[in-house]
Amino acid sequence: MHNNRMTVRSSPDEISAGEAVPIADALGRPLHDLRISLLDQCNFRCPYCMPESEFHSEYEFLKRRQRLTYDEIVKVATAACSMGVSKIRLTGGEPLLDKNICALIERIADLPGVEDLALTTNGMLLEPMAGKLKAAGLHRVTVSLDSLDKQIFREMSGGRGDLDKVLAGIQAAEKAGLGPTKINVVVQKGVNDHTVLDLLEYFRGRGTIVRLIEFMDVGNRNGWLMNRVVPSRVLLESIQKRWPMRPIGKNYAGEVARRYEYIDGAGEIGFISSVTEPFCGDCSRARLSADGMLYTCLFANQGTDLRESLRNGADDDELSSILSSIWLQRADRYSELRRTDVAEHHVLRKVEMYRIGG
Ligand code: GTP
Ligand code: 5AD
Ligand code: SF4
Ligand code: SF4
Repeated sequence: MHNNRMTVRSSPDEISAGEAVPIADALGRPLHDLRISLLDQCNFRCPYCMPESEFHSEYEFLKRRQRLTYDEIVKVATAACSMGVSKIRLTGGEPLLDKNICALIERIADLPGVEDLALTTNGMLLEPMAGKLKAAGLHRVTVSLDSLDKQIFREMSGGRGDLDKVLAGIQAAEKAGLGPTKINVVVQKGVNDHTVLDLLEYFRGRGTIVRLIEFMDVGNRNGWLMNRVVPSRVLLESIQKRWPMRPIGKNYAGEVARRYEYIDGAGEIGFISSVTEPFCGDCSRARLSADGMLYTCLFANQGTDLRESLRNGADDDELSSILSSIWLQRADRYSELRRTDVAEHHVLRKVEMYRIGG
């Protein structure tokens, strides 16, 4: 999916506007992937992300004027593409709460260099929007869905999710040509791990790709404990007993999921094992929050305020130069460090997941 561009820039002085020049960070990793959070609000309250106790009716989400405008988002995306970004993912909170999203999709889909434009959603609002998203230029969707057990799903969405609506949304996405749809399942021991096989059974043979995600210590509010993590290795063993599987190669360098296919031909699944098998070594992702902070790691404790630069009149060259210098200095590898010392690392102050959308 990505171009195999060989030259990389190693100093901000080598920048010239309008030309797509790949760039490598301090650990030699290119920038390929930009994840854009459109808003911090969500119609769910998943306890591992936005627990209701904290995100209650009094909670102050970003005001409209605090969020980047579409023009501002497009400027950042354009600068990122000029540095080698070819994959863009729109996230939230819940991005489909933004009713004008198709207007933004049209603009991003048209940017030179964008080869893959995806969206992560909880699926509640997907059914009526799928056709319009496709027509606007979206390539594919990933739906977060933790269990097909109605009661467990409801609890894991903070009492707000409607399973039938989400399943209808997934079907509508496939029908609209937004497939292959991926399903993100955050697996928590004692919460939904016993429902994983049922979920796999439902999606097997439909061309939908389920990805099983180890529960991560993102942010500081999600009550993460190591003993709630189900290592992917353990899940794989139990899946193999029911349906033999074999590993398959990566789709692209830096792919987060480790892919396996059913030997009986019923399709593929993926494991995202950031806790037990970190993948920082080829992490090529930058994240832009709805208020314009650029983060170079999902677990970052600080970002760079691009909104301020944009609103102070930074032109395209200046913006490219800011992005380049951030990326050139980047040395994040949180998950690898966490593995060496969980107790020390997971308590560090980190950006909350709902602000950067995973
Ligand atoms: P594809 O483009 O379809 O391959 O998707 P993706 O692998 O980028 O996956 P997606 O955006 O759906 O991410 C799935 C989940 O993996 C996220 O929600 C996070 O939980 C986790 N994840 C994605 N990127 C990172 C990362 O850079 N670091 C860590 N630790 N976890 C990540
Ligand atoms: N651990 C792992 N994945 C998480 N997500 C949200 N919070 C966590 C967490 N603590 C996932 C959601 C969604 C994506 C945006 O991030 O399920 O698929
Ligand atoms: Fe919303 Fe996704 Fe967070 Fe759940 S995980 S609260 S659906 S942003
Ligand atoms: Fe990338 Fe940070 Fe995740 Fe490592 S922990 S893979 S550096 S986002």
